[in-house]
Amino acid sequence: MKIMVCGKGGSGKSTVTALMAKEYERQGKRVLVIDCDESNYGLHQQLGMEFPKDFTDYVGGKQKIMMLSANGPMNMPPLFDRRISFEDIPAEYLSKEGSIMLMSPGKIHDANEGCACSFNIVMFQFLPMLDLGENDVVILDMEAGIEHFGRGTGMSCDKVIMVVDPSYESLKLSAKISEICSHIGKTVYYVINKADEDNTGIMIKKIDKPEMIACIMPQKGDLKKAGLTGEPLDGQYEEVQELIAKIA
Ligand SMILES: Nc1ncnc2c1ncn2[C@@H]1O[C@H](COP(=O)(O)OP(=O)(O)OP(=O)(O)O)[C@@H](O)[C@H]1O
Ligand SMILES: [Mg+2]
Repeated sequence: MKIMVCGKGGSGKSTVTALMAKEYERQGKRVLVIDCDESNYGLHQQLGMEFPKDFTDYVGGKQKIMMLSANGPMNMPPLFDRRISFEDIPAEYLSKEGSIMLMSPGKIHDANEGCACSFNIVMFQFLPMLDLGENDVVILDMEAGIEHFGRGTGMSCDKVIMVVDPSYESLKLSAKISEICSHIGKTVYYVINKADEDNTGIMIKKIDKPEMIACIMPQKGDLKKAGLTGEPLDGQYEEVQELIAKIA
């Protein structure tokens, strides 16, 4: 299964990604986490892992991809000429810890280095070529918002998880993502995040398909603290187990 985790900036995408990866590992799965957010640097820490090298370098680097895609990403030659399994991903582009692997298409490292188009192009081509074993799961931690839908970065994902935090902006985005996903035939599951007594009812009412709410994740003190200190997320949460069961 290939899962895309999306939502508004700061809604909890990386937190949900890291918690799901750890839970899948506990359930005996091999997990490939792909950090598709070129602008944030926190996911590896939430997973308690080293920061991986940019995978885009493996296929020639940013400048080469930009040249190859000069006539549009749909008109460029394929970057991968054969099917790929987890074993084929070069170890130097992965961080590994237990049964979890972390890959990063690329990050913005310096001023004036150019945009993130190439990273999205690499994932657009890589993901459909990636074959999974029965026990394999891929989780994509997407950049905030909907630009990645425009680029088609996660088009070959089977499941879309929309993390919704208690804000009007987040609810508006969830409605837009639901609309986009209905056009491309993808099912959206919602995680209501940072829920408390006051906001949960309002959020449930505003979700267009409440039956697709996979879990309601309360505002948790330990997650909030880890968000400040940068400690890895090692806790086990029944809400995350519920989420995984719901999207199975
Ligand atoms: N259920 C929760 N309870 C308490 N704090 C949470 C919860 N979920 C996320 N947070 C905190 O909210 C902040 C944002 O979370 P996170 O980084 O996962 O969001 P994000 O959507 O990945 O953000 P970005 O768009 O910047 O990548 C972090 O400080 C995190 O610790
Ligand atoms: Mg994030």
